[in-house]
Amino acid sequence: MFHGGCRRQTRLGVHLKSQPVPEGFAQAARNTPWPWLRISFLTFLTLDGNVWAEMSVWVQHTTPVCAPSASVVYNTGRYDYRNLRGGVANRKTIERRMGLSEPAIIKTELRDTLGRALRDLRISVIDNCNLRCTYCMPREKFGEGYEFLPEDELLAFDEIVRLATLITSLGAKKIRITGGEPLLRKGLPDLIARLANIEGADDLALTTNGLLLRSQAPALHDAGLDRLTVSLDSLDDDVFGRMNGRGVRVAHVLKGIDAAHAAGFSTIKINAVIQKGVNDEGAVALAEHFRGTGCIVRFIEYMDAGNRNHWDLAEVLPSKILMERIHAKYPLRPVERNYKGEVAARYVYEDGSGEIGFISSVTESFCGGCTRARLSADGKLYTCLFASAGTDMKAALRAGESDEALLDRLASVWGARDDRYSELRAAMPEHERHQRKVEMYEIGG
Ligand SMILES: C[S@@+](CC[C@H](N)C(=O)[O-])C[C@H]1O[C@@H](n2cnc3c(N)ncnc32)[C@H](O)[C@@H]1O
Ligand code: SF4
Repeated sequence: MFHGGCRRQTRLGVHLKSQPVPEGFAQAARNTPWPWLRISFLTFLTLDGNVWAEMSVWVQHTTPVCAPSASVVYNTGRYDYRNLRGGVANRKTIERRMGLSEPAIIKTELRDTLGRALRDLRISVIDNCNLRCTYCMPREKFGEGYEFLPEDELLAFDEIVRLATLITSLGAKKIRITGGEPLLRKGLPDLIARLANIEGADDLALTTNGLLLRSQAPALHDAGLDRLTVSLDSLDDDVFGRMNGRGVRVAHVLKGIDAAHAAGFSTIKINAVIQKGVNDEGAVALAEHFRGTGCIVRFIEYMDAGNRNHWDLAEVLPSKILMERIHAKYPLRPVERNYKGEVAARYVYEDGSGEIGFISSVTESFCGGCTRARLSADGKLYTCLFASAGTDMKAALRAGESDEALLDRLASVWGARDDRYSELRAAMPEHERHQRKVEMYEIGG
């Protein structure tokens, strides 16, 4: 229906409250004389018996507009679409005719093709890591000679801050720093201090394997990091040592968690990837260990991220089974998600000794509520953890693109987003599942 120009659309939603939709009105709206204009209606019957209609006007821009507020909703009260007929040439005219020159903008929002907003940004600051977890960076594939990205191929701090600022202006409110192992990135607290200052970024978190927390936790806290997640898959040294691929002992991570508490991080989350037949027997002990400490353990189903971990569905323990095991010993009660799009299903112990969560990307996909964009260490923008290609933002930055052009690029990537890999996984033929997917250490889980 739309021709030429950039693909961005601006949506002008006019609420026709308590006003019956005139006969033929909706049909007329569908047949607008302007190919770049589309009008649609949603009508509702309100409790007081009135018909309530929401009119949406989609305007195709032929030139980039300023900040790409992909969805601009005006609240004008009443408007008769027929006043629009005749000689309307552009968006400004429409706005003037509609009396929208001084509109009450009630919402500006970018949405993807499935109606999902952009709310979270994950930034991988490094691809290298000091562990070799079997499910992420197996040692046989990432041996001593493996070449990680040289420093000049990593996004520089200035570049990260610039992109994070632009992405926040498109709606992202939460930023999570990850990796590889983010604490290996030199000068990380400086980056954190700058990200913490971005207007609109209400929540700044970091995921780490915890090995370097003892020395870095105070600086991270002082720099303005709000929240911390530490990965720990088992309390058994043999199991943990095998899973982390380097024989690192549990005490090392536990000391890091203590240091983080001492530095002032109050609620620390503990990520545990559960692999059937590998560490699932110790999952209840993990829950037990952190009960009553204020730490929230989140059990993650082993995922088919990347292509190098020999993922096998038979090694996935459905969260439901794990939840029942824990519940049998420590009765649990489900609680509401903290916010729309939260990936973990939350449970609290009936006796008030804390909370745990389950992230069930394999058995209960949450694509419908996925509001995450991911920036890889080498500056590619991914719109799905299981994507095979990203958009090269580093190249655009280094080619000298303006903020406006970068925003346009970011908005059109999100606007075109239709990813829902986890929802489709079960019905996907084997060869499609094995298509090259970005690795977890590249974009940080
Ligand atoms: C890729 S790591 C990066 C941050 C840091 N190195 C760490 O391990 O916490 C981020 C999270 O992804 C999880 N992860 C990695 N590979 C996974 C997989 N195949 N399935 C599920 N979770 C995975 C890790 O356990 C970790 O909690
Ligand atoms: S999960 Fe984290 S700690 Fe383990 S190998 Fe991957 S990046 Fe490193």
